[in-house]
Amino acid sequence: MRLLTAAVATVAMTLGAQFAAAAPIEIKFSHVVAENTPKGKMAVRFKELVEERLDGKVTVSVFPNSQLFGDNKVLEAMLLGDVQMAAPSLSKFQKYTTQLQVFDLPFLFKDMAAVDRFQQSETGQELLNSLRKKGLVGLGYLHNGMKQMSANTPLRVPADAAGKKFRIMTSDVLQAQFEELDAVPLKKPFSEVFTLLQTKAIDGAENPWSNIYSKKFHEVQPYITETNHGVLDYMVVTSAEFWNGLDDDVRAEVKKALDEAIAYGNQISGEQAAADRQAIIDSGRSEVIEITEAERQQWVDAMKPVWKQFEDEIGADLIEAALKANEG
Ligand code: SIN
Repeated sequence: MRLLTAAVATVAMTLGAQFAAAAPIEIKFSHVVAENTPKGKMAVRFKELVEERLDGKVTVSVFPNSQLFGDNKVLEAMLLGDVQMAAPSLSKFQKYTTQLQVFDLPFLFKDMAAVDRFQQSETGQELLNSLRKKGLVGLGYLHNGMKQMSANTPLRVPADAAGKKFRIMTSDVLQAQFEELDAVPLKKPFSEVFTLLQTKAIDGAENPWSNIYSKKFHEVQPYITETNHGVLDYMVVTSAEFWNGLDDDVRAEVKKALDEAIAYGNQISGEQAAADRQAIIDSGRSEVIEITEAERQQWVDAMKPVWKQFEDEIGADLIEAALKANEG
């Protein structure tokens, strides 16, 4: 009888092990923006590629629009194993490294090509790896685009922003940037921005075109000034525990699919920005203000002291390397 019980137990354990081996690995990909944005489209492309190529071994569930976690919580959740991938904006890593704040410095990059060159440079790739000691693995940079200022009154020059309340991401550099304008910056989650603007709890915000359009901020912000004063890009991240726990062949396939999805997201980001800008103009809900070169210079002069303020925290070498990317 004892022998029989032992045999039954062995068979059950073997079946259990086989079942466990066959159970797919689930990657939960959490983000805060809409699906019709570069990040939203990249995440869906990643899911399609992984599920097509990994033959049921890995599944990807994409949670857009802060459905699962807001960006301010997602990295903690990742370290706890509650989510496997996310792509927070580079402004939201301050708790883990101050170096990525280089991307928040106003008027540092002349255009998205310069941002891309910096990200792909040796220094940019080192930054991607700099989170390992915090248990996070940077898997790639993803573009959204340049930020614009929006408000409930026209902003042509920095003085127009004085005294106004602006929502910002959780970045001390962005806070300093608005303080230089004598404005009032408020760190708030992305999911709250529309309501804050609609109820006039805040006066304005800074966002790239795709976020403004997809979240309908232009419907509650009558003026958008085309300042292109900073960049809003992302780092696709996972936890070292999850990443290192994958079999080598699975990890390599997932990475390949991700690289392709990121390349696709980066390729469409420029077209998306142009199309969303035009859609906002066509909607007639918000006036897009194009500033003159002299007006732009006023914004540069007003915001540039932030560079010096954060030079020690970020590193003068890093700022220098980023500036070099403007040379092409
Ligand atoms: C995002 O693009 O992921 C959100 C950025 C923000 O919080 O403004």
